[in-house]
Amino acid sequence: MALEYRNNELYCEDVPLTELHEEFGTPLYVYSRTKLLENFQALDAALSGIDHVTCFALKANSNVQLLKVLAEHGAGADVVSGGELLLARKAGFPPERMVFAGVGKREDELEFGLKEDIFCFNVESVQELQLISRVALRLQKTARVALRINPDINAESHPYISTALKEHKFGIPAGESREAFRVAASLPNLEVCGVHVHLGSQIVRKEPYTAAATFLSTLVRELRGAGISIAHVDIGGGFGVRYKNVLRHEGLPEEQDDQESIPSPAQFIDTMLPVLRETGCRIWLEPGRAVIADAGLLLTQVLYRKENRSKRFLIVDAGMNDLLRPSLYNAYHQIVPVRIETYEHEKTDIVGPVCETGDFFARDRQMPKTKQRDLLAILTTGAYGFVNASNYNSRLRPAEVLVNGDRVRVIRPRQTMNELAQ
Ligand SMILES: Cc1ncc(COP(=O)(O)O)c(C=O)c1O
Repeated sequence: MALEYRNNELYCEDVPLTELHEEFGTPLYVYSRTKLLENFQALDAALSGIDHVTCFALKANSNVQLLKVLAEHGAGADVVSGGELLLARKAGFPPERMVFAGVGKREDELEFGLKEDIFCFNVESVQELQLISRVALRLQKTARVALRINPDINAESHPYISTALKEHKFGIPAGESREAFRVAASLPNLEVCGVHVHLGSQIVRKEPYTAAATFLSTLVRELRGAGISIAHVDIGGGFGVRYKNVLRHEGLPEEQDDQESIPSPAQFIDTMLPVLRETGCRIWLEPGRAVIADAGLLLTQVLYRKENRSKRFLIVDAGMNDLLRPSLYNAYHQIVPVRIETYEHEKTDIVGPVCETGDFFARDRQMPKTKQRDLLAILTTGAYGFVNASNYNSRLRPAEVLVNGDRVRVIRPRQTMNELAQ
């Protein structure tokens, strides 16, 4: 097991987290290589025997050493910027397994993608099609394009990470898709190859995916009827993961759980497969969170305990600059002591040192009683964790380590004061 208590002490694979703290300090992102690979392989296996490419969405985590693990095991890459494209190439993803998404690609980024000969651009507007065509013409290249269509499907996720309703900025409106494909087919130096949808992130119900599969197969049929050949469908990412009761132990409070029934990525895929298979298209997918969220945790130390008449606070050495999700989306992460020393619980807020009231990791949370200098692990922070880290309050960016069995490797050193001052 990637994360477990042994004699009341938390281990990542075969390494006690207390040792990681002694050697590397806190705040520290800790990743399990075994869990990362297990997640990717389970997802990819759900499509075995079917012509497909499982891309990893780099926006979830773009540490090159983690990317290398995925690239070495056959993953493709879903990138959304020139920076991500550079990191994907550095990690060794082959260009023919890369898609470039994003609602606002710049001309230099399009040029970079064309020069790298990536598999295709997921295009989000007719103006973008026109620009890609011009750039491709100038470079004397052919740009393969898939059109991202906004199907007006409710992902039923947090509003900030739902992306497929008609009021969202993403994709080409479903009603305009035929015309957009017609334009794409008529522009020079473009080759239309696919259709793309991405519903949103942290989706916990199958229904939006069932609707998306039906939408895609209908569209593919219509386009083919209009003489436009579609070789692949890209169903995006978005598979939700559990953030509650990830770790259970008799010393840990049971968390109020509304997430018991989240389907596994394989179950999400199974709901779509019968319909998508009928299209005869190659299937692309772009999961991020489901591959890496529960392969990572953020280790932090309690700096102070503080109480007033109505509240208790644990002030820890990680802040919203290290992990933004709770501040940004009110996101929930299970937080557990690295050593379980008592079965007594108390209600507390867990907050960072940043000068904002929004700098919190948990509010009114039942926790085992925690002392100054105790270590806490903020779980399921492998996705959308470090990638959102900043130097806010001029705090140093945290270090990242990768655990493999009993071995540990620094995959990003802690930023230094000197680097900050440059
Ligand atoms: C186009 C696209 N593909 C894939 C993803 C990955 O989503 P997730 O990490 O939820 O799987 C995102 C996330 O926002 C996205 O915008």
